[in-house]
Amino acid sequence: MVRTKAGSDDIVVFAGSGLGSKNIAEDITKILELRLSKLHTHLFPDREIRVRIPVKDVEGKHVLYVQSTAPKRENIWKAPQSQSLVELFLTLDAFKEKGAKTVDVVVPYLTGARQHKEFKKGESVSTRTIAKILRNLGIFRLFTVDVHSHRRPGFFFLGRTRNFGGVKGYNITAAKALASYIKDNLETRSPVVVIPDKGHVPIADEIREIIVPDEIVFMKKKRLGGENVRFKLLGELDLKGKDVVIFDDMISTGRTLVGASRLARKRGATTVLVAVTHTLYVKRAREQLLGSGVDRIVATDTIPKEDSVVPIAPIIAESLKKILF
Ligand code: R5P
Repeated sequence: MVRTKAGSDDIVVFAGSGLGSKNIAEDITKILELRLSKLHTHLFPDREIRVRIPVKDVEGKHVLYVQSTAPKRENIWKAPQSQSLVELFLTLDAFKEKGAKTVDVVVPYLTGARQHKEFKKGESVSTRTIAKILRNLGIFRLFTVDVHSHRRPGFFFLGRTRNFGGVKGYNITAAKALASYIKDNLETRSPVVVIPDKGHVPIADEIREIIVPDEIVFMKKKRLGGENVRFKLLGELDLKGKDVVIFDDMISTGRTLVGASRLARKRGATTVLVAVTHTLYVKRAREQLLGSGVDRIVATDTIPKEDSVVPIAPIIAESLKKILF
């Protein structure tokens, strides 16, 4: 594999039109002192996409392409995740066709990451399909943030890589940065950290390095449908007078964290903070969370929303530096 050098004129960064991509690409470019170039994405009236890249900025270069795949508007049918994914594939193909030496892709929010296995026989497996397409396009490295499952073997591992079908997925976690923000900016007295998904055990280790928690507890969650989640928990745990911080990878409908927060309040928690990487905020998820006992939501800007106080670019740049240069 060809290796690239930091600061070299041979590296060119591009951003897709996916929500938040431009800002993250600009910040990564500044931090790593790289060159940012522009491409043109056109949306036809029927919402078909065409991408045009500047050939002279691509030929013989190492390309770093940043494209996040969150829905762009409240009405996801007008700009669904899948549109950003198609744009990503079209652009990557154009880079390869126009002679880029290498192409690496950064997808701060990766749609499809939750369907990383066949939950029921016969289901499509989104991450597998994405990996197959990337491999066929000649893309070998994908950097993303807090993809759904950190524990089970799959395409992505926390802090490690797994080579699947020739595509390496680097799963970068924002857990430490979220924990640092809470420690530095919010008053929490040795909080009880609640993790509503047993699959996120490695996240607990990251958090432990920053916050000294009173205790870290896991909930047992059962999803009964897209918007229906049931919890079993926490033994006899008494949260009376405690500050509680709930960590998760994302808020979609908010069902998971509404349930977790209600439970924490029921057990006597004085304050409930929620720390998440991706805020999709489907429908009225944010309002529902704030109405269910959550005092504050702290999130990264992988999907820029009102609670995005932790910038993701420095965390991604740190990983790129270690791996690419
Ligand atoms: C899945 O298990 C994830 O860790 C999140 O908890 C989940 O995707 C959040 O979805 P929602 O906000 O719809 O409950």
